[in-house]
Parts: sequence; structure tokens; C-alpha cells
Amino acid sequence: EKGGYEYFMLKEIAEQPQAIHDTLLGRLSERGEIILDEVRLTDQDLRDVDKVFIVACGTAYHSGLVAKYAIEHWTRIPCEVELASEFRYRDPVLDRSTLVVAISQSGETMDTLMALRHAKEQKARVLAICNTNGSTIPRESDAVLYTHGGPEIAVASTKAFLTQLVACYLIGLHLAQVRGVMYADEVAAVVSRLMETPDHLRQLLDTMEDVRQLARDLKTASTVLFIGRHVGYPVALEGALKLKELAYMHAEGFAAGELKHGPIALIDEGTPVVCVVPSPAGRGVLRDKVVSNIQEVRARGARTIVIAEEGDEAVRPFADHLIEVPRTPTLLAPLMTTVPLQILACEIAAARGHDVDQPRNLAKSVTVE
Ligand code: M6R
Repeated sequence: EKGGYEYFMLKEIAEQPQAIHDTLLGRLSERGEIILDEVRLTDQDLRDVDKVFIVACGTAYHSGLVAKYAIEHWTRIPCEVELASEFRYRDPVLDRSTLVVAISQSGETMDTLMALRHAKEQKARVLAICNTNGSTIPRESDAVLYTHGGPEIAVASTKAFLTQLVACYLIGLHLAQVRGVMYADEVAAVVSRLMETPDHLRQLLDTMEDVRQLARDLKTASTVLFIGRHVGYPVALEGALKLKELAYMHAEGFAAGELKHGPIALIDEGTPVVCVVPSPAGRGVLRDKVVSNIQEVRARGARTIVIAEEGDEAVRPFADHLIEVPRTPTLLAPLMTTVPLQILACEIAAARGHDVDQPRNLAKSVTVE
């Protein structure tokens, strides 16, 4: 049932190219437009939206953080992302023109369900992104976009995360298209890059042997830090979450620009710092800023593990360990950069002798508030 893999998690990581492909299937027209017929909100409803809130927990929350960059950039609608457990207790401002996107792999997470019920009481429209057909969250939502990731057995979420990203990209592009903020050819250009990602991910997955070796070296570290900017920041948070839940190690993700405001004090001789570097093509300034951050931590003794785009030679001198990922537009890059971090956490946990698929104290779906 594990298809020859030692853990469900490794099987599910390997299934990610197919999961992305399946989530895109049937949602793109031949002309590269987005078709979301199953989202039962009319084009007029979508034109009326003046604010988007994304609510979710854990890994699904991290997909929402990535989505914010894409949705605001493409649609110019303000978008906020909030932990579902916090959302309803702070009296958020919601009305008929608010679109609340609830993201949940299981569709049964109580915190997310309570957040969506609260949103509905306030008359907001609720759209679910969910991997489980017929589960409670989509049933109670006004509309649903299913991720077609297939069942996820390992407690640590992997393929669900990547397919949630794909679903968010589709929603962002669809909103931009319906509202006339993006021209058809602009949407089609992004779509064609999205369609390339399964192949690129397959290539990336074939180069992960080094990450396995790295995991053996890092298994005794007392803390591992993750830094990133822009969409690399939620990727850093996700890398840290994976390591905490699987390897039971102290790990933290930071916005790289925040280091100097405090966290840099944590860095000691040999502290591993995983650095997620943006593409030099998309936002060169941002990439240069992360490179300076890498130099700063290195000057204080950090051991740097750098995730960068293939051919980005400028980062090489500052990387104690370099992991290269295929070229991908900035907003879509988390579909690549997250994957080595999933494998790193899985392999460190295995090297430490932990049950990768069933980490202690955790359940696959959290049905209590
Ligand atoms: O089923 P959901 O997507 O609503 O679950 C949300 C979180 O509980 C989940 O992502 C959790 O953080 C994972 N164990 C992370 O790997």
C-alpha cells in the first residue's frame, strides 16, 4: 500500500507532480483561460468582492500565506490570511462583499469550520478549498474547489499543500480574469508556466539524494532556522513546521528581513540556517537582499543550506550546502522550494528513529477546537 516506499510521507511526496497535474485537469481551457464551473459563485458575485480573507490552520495556513501574494498581485483585491483559531474571536469586519476562503485538506478541522460558520453568520461568501469530497467544510460552504491530491495518509501534509497552492493560484487568476484586471494572454502566460510545474518537479525529485545525506549530518542539531522573503517566507515557516512535527527538533521560520530585529542573536557557531532564495529573474532586488542575509548569518558562524534556482551562480560562494530547483516564476516558486524541505524533515526524522507517518501527539485531522 506504500507503493514500495518506506513511509506514506515519501510516497505522497513522490505523488506531488501527479497531484498538481490532477488539480489543474479540466480547469483550463485550450486558450489558457481558467474554468471553475464547479465554484458556485456567479461572475457577478466575484466582481462584487472587495476583500478576501483566507482562514486555515497549520500547513493549510501556510498555503494561504503564499496565496495572499498571488491574489493581491493579480487581482488588486486586498487579501488577509488568518489562523482559523484566531479569526472568529477578534470580531473581523465581514459583509456580503467579503470572500472568505477556507482551506482544509481534511475538511473536518474544527477551528476552520468554526471560522467559516462565523463568516457565514456575518453574511460573507465562503469558498472552500478541500481535498476530501463531501466533508463538512465544503458542505457548509457556498462554493468549493476540490484539490485532486488523492488521499493523504501521513500526518504531515505534503501533496495537499502543493495542491492547495495550485487551487489558490487558479482562484486568483479566475478572479483577475472575471474582473478584467488581467488580459487573457497574461492569464494564459501564467497558466502555461503552471502546466510546466509537474515536469519540473519530477526533475527536482530525481536530485534529492544529497538532501538525504544532509539530513544525516543535521540530525543532531539542537535548532534549525529557516529564512525567506516574499513567498519564500511562508515556505520557511512550512519547512520549520515539518521539522518540528516530524523530528521533534526546535525549528523556526523567519522573514529574512526580520533577522536583524532579534532572531540573529540565536545564531551560534554551526547553527544550520536554511535560506530560501527568490529567483533572480523575477525580483532581482529581493534575491540580492536574501543573499545579504545569507552573508550576515554566515559571518556569525551559521552553516548555510541554500535553496536557489538552477544557474544562480551568485549564491554559490555563500552556500555550505546548495540545493538547486528548476526555474519557476517567483509566485509559483513555492511549488518547487517546499519539496526539499519536506524531504529534509522526513529524512531527519527517520535518521532520529521516529515514526514519520504518525508523529507523537498529533492526529491527521483535528476535530476539536
Ligand atoms: O485538514 P486540514 O488541512 O484542515 O489540517 C490543518 C492542519 O491541522 C494540518 O495542515 C497540520 O498542520 C499538518 N499536520 C501539517 O503537516
